[in-house]
Amino acid sequence: MNYQWYPGHMTKARRMMEENIKLIDLVIEVLDARIPYSSRNPDIDVLAKGKARVVLLNKADLADPARNRQWASYFQKEGILVQEVNSKSGAGVKSIQGLVQEACREKIERDRRRGILNRPVRAMVVGIPNVGKSTFINSFAGKACAKTGNKPGVTKGKQWIRLNKGLELLDTPGILWPKFEDQMVGKHLAFIGSINDDIILVDEMALDLLGEIISRYPKALEERYGVDVREKGRAPVGILEGIAESRKCYGKGETLDLGRAAGMLVDDFRSGRLGRMTLEGPEDLQEGKPGGVLEEDLSKP
Ligand code: G4P
Repeated sequence: MNYQWYPGHMTKARRMMEENIKLIDLVIEVLDARIPYSSRNPDIDVLAKGKARVVLLNKADLADPARNRQWASYFQKEGILVQEVNSKSGAGVKSIQGLVQEACREKIERDRRRGILNRPVRAMVVGIPNVGKSTFINSFAGKACAKTGNKPGVTKGKQWIRLNKGLELLDTPGILWPKFEDQMVGKHLAFIGSINDDIILVDEMALDLLGEIISRYPKALEERYGVDVREKGRAPVGILEGIAESRKCYGKGETLDLGRAAGMLVDDFRSGRLGRMTLEGPEDLQEGKPGGVLEEDLSKP
């Protein structure tokens, strides 16, 4: 199936982003920890050039903990400060203040040398749709919602949330666009629910998703649905039939309702009921096939 799409509002988002980024010192880049490659904007290095940077692996609660650690060390090696967070519960959000200070140390030093003291760092949260930018802003800003700006004669139209005397956050996140040209990216975004399900065929998507789960997390299928991947020969259709049987998804005349089983699988994956899963590893980047199904994963217990 072709997962390619380009929502029209992305052109406007791009313009807004380019305008707002001029006002800030620090970019807080939010990624979905389940697909850190696919949820990353391809132009971010150019867009954020010269700015301090922090990467958040958000929805870390839904992602594989071992993979979270691998991705964190990948970004650290790239010289980017990184933090796993669950913006929904607030886990990991507190440590971000320290990270921001560290990321902006150079800027603060530079200001000091020029005699500028106590100028707050201005930050903006950015990311592609649905990665949790607004949830993060709410969690990070918490009750500190004393808005600055938007007063007559002061920065018109922009609202800044003053988090403390050293940090102000733009209250609306910068919306970025994904790597539209990469088929695998479209597919992974569809899996996590970032592409409107109305424009894709859920049954077909479920089979593609199943293919990746069979390869990366075969045990999860056994644990949740009692379907032994080895026994079923690893073919996604066979496994989906197994899921339909175990969940008693029958249509008219006792035929299996694979559509219902497909919907169930996708829901279970997205909500984390199937277990914590990450579909891309940093090693895939090196091989030039991010998210590619790794054969050697099949032999893992
Ligand atoms: P956006 O601004 O980047 O577009 O994303 P937004 O904050 O609207 O979040 C998108 C969805 O992701 C929301 O779910 C939100 O609750 C969920 N979410 C955000 N951060 C986390 C996280 O760290 N962990 C988990 N598990 N979920 C997270 P929703 O289904 O749209 O709404 P709701 O069901 O939570 O009300």
